[in-house]
Amino acid sequence: MSCAKSCFAVEYFFLMKTRDAIAIVDFGGQYTHLIANRIRRLGVYSEIVPSTVSPQQAARFKGIILSGGPFSVLDTGKPEFDPHLLDLKVPFLGLCYGHQLMAQALGGRVMPKESREYGRAQMTIVGKCDLFNELQASQQIWMSHGDTVVEVPDGFEVVGSSSDCRVTAMADARRHRYGLQFHPEVTDTPQGMKILQNFLTVCGCDRTWKPEQFIEDINREIRTRCEGKKVFLLVSGGVDSTVCFALLNKALGPSRVLGLHIDNGLMRKGESEAILNYLKEHGFSNLIIEDASGRFLAALGGITDPEKKREIIGAMFLSVKQLAEQRLGLNINEWLLGQGTIYPDTIESAGSAHADKIKTHHNRVNVVLELIEKGLVIEPLSQLYKDEVRLLGEKLGLPPRLVWRHPFPGPGLGVRVLCSATQSDRVDGSLEAEVTRAIAGSGYTARVLPIKSVGVQGDARTYAHPALLDGPCDWDTLARLSTAITNKIAGVNRVLLRIRGYSPSYRLVEAYMTKKRLDTLREIDHLVKSALVNNNEYHSIWQMPVVLLPLINEAGNESIVLRPVNSQEAMTARFASLKQETLQQVCDGVHSIAGAGDLFYDITHKPPGTIEWE
Ligand code: XMP
Repeated sequence: MSCAKSCFAVEYFFLMKTRDAIAIVDFGGQYTHLIANRIRRLGVYSEIVPSTVSPQQAARFKGIILSGGPFSVLDTGKPEFDPHLLDLKVPFLGLCYGHQLMAQALGGRVMPKESREYGRAQMTIVGKCDLFNELQASQQIWMSHGDTVVEVPDGFEVVGSSSDCRVTAMADARRHRYGLQFHPEVTDTPQGMKILQNFLTVCGCDRTWKPEQFIEDINREIRTRCEGKKVFLLVSGGVDSTVCFALLNKALGPSRVLGLHIDNGLMRKGESEAILNYLKEHGFSNLIIEDASGRFLAALGGITDPEKKREIIGAMFLSVKQLAEQRLGLNINEWLLGQGTIYPDTIESAGSAHADKIKTHHNRVNVVLELIEKGLVIEPLSQLYKDEVRLLGEKLGLPPRLVWRHPFPGPGLGVRVLCSATQSDRVDGSLEAEVTRAIAGSGYTARVLPIKSVGVQGDARTYAHPALLDGPCDWDTLARLSTAITNKIAGVNRVLLRIRGYSPSYRLVEAYMTKKRLDTLREIDHLVKSALVNNNEYHSIWQMPVVLLPLINEAGNESIVLRPVNSQEAMTARFASLKQETLQQVCDGVHSIAGAGDLFYDITHKPPGTIEWE
């Protein structure tokens, strides 16, 4: 199902169409939309087009970018693509899968790599290439791939190499065709924007498009879409829904907007009351609150599968909203459902043609998709990333305290209290042996924990075990070991460091979503937030989920994961290294929280781990 009816920003971009446009051909990459965002930031209008786009349809663009994707060009089931597209006489840039596809289509050769490569690497520029103008010879780049180009097509030369990938960059300077195995669109490639800007120069584009045009255009779109209608908006109190609420109030006036905050029992300590008070203080009186914590908990009883939990939570939001509508006597024909969905929610829920489903965001569950198909949902932010939403929030005059809050997922602590229907002590011993081999000589010891979490590798979902390391808190070494383990061992997608507790083993126990476990996590989460604020670290990181695992230590207490990350828009992230004072405060405080056991620190980047565990 597509999100076409709710994604009016897409239509808006069509309105903005200028002569100087870049097409991004979508092969389902997690970063396809990010490429479009980056091109817009560089002042050029960009449009995402399906992989089936014909040469005639694409002829109006001044340059074409072929995106990454979860497939292998060696697969028979890869997305359809017309190779005649490459006959167009405009500059082409292939990224990751797009690079391999271009190599294969033009007569080069692609092979699977012995070990996959996810994360940072160093590229040496080995040939003349317009894309690398004004760049130093050695560049940090970011990779996420399993296949590699082993022979470049006629007319191409290798212009960039890394120690693990000979054809990191190739170019046919005469015909302006370029292929990059890495991702210039992510922030882990520090000169990525410069590379994209150089591509726009090769394409000869005017750079006149401005992001400030968003507010007026989105407002106009809201008014058009909502003609004769009102909007009933779910307001969690997070950055996205609050900005959306403010935007709708501005565009339609408060009499045509009603906000509903649902206390689902999965919120942080004191969160629901704080949100209501806070919004009222800022003049929003058209907001009601509904306590549905009992219903959510009952529905989640006995459920352990992460996707099932997400589906239940998402559907329950709508069912509570319906009850509120009935109680208030609202005429449902007059109201649209409003949501603060942003772009990563859509893409990670497999919202584009070839994208893999990483996880179903709460605003993309089946019941919501059905309403979207009927045109009954309005999502003014659905094409934006968090950094763009924050920009919008500031322009709307919302206070920094609200705009710069850490993101909090719609399903709340529901995806941070992990559940299990089975008991187990160990995982397959050979997996542990592989991890031990991967870190041999490092001075660290490792074990593999009998639990699983969600990850993303090569644009596809994974569900695998974490490895737990013991050893010193040396962040650089830990980052290196974490990448080495997850690149080499398919059964491990996350790496942790033990920072409190000495249990010789951890036992997976049967445990479900209960108020007691949620209360334990709420207390720990509160302690962590206080430690961040006290040590002036709250605003230096993007987000810090705290996760409760049904893995008990010898004393019978559950394990806790700290997951501090840095990110720009949540599509990629790096684990953040916190100050020792902050960690000490958490370790000391956790001691007095009933039910809290050993503490693990998540040292996994995204990819290969997602930010949340489920
Ligand atoms: P992941 O775990 O996919 O998370 O790396 C990326 C960002 O999205 C948040 N997140 C959600 N936000 N509804 C939301 O509104 C959801 O269902 C959801 N799941 C994850 C997550 O906290 C992170 O900031």
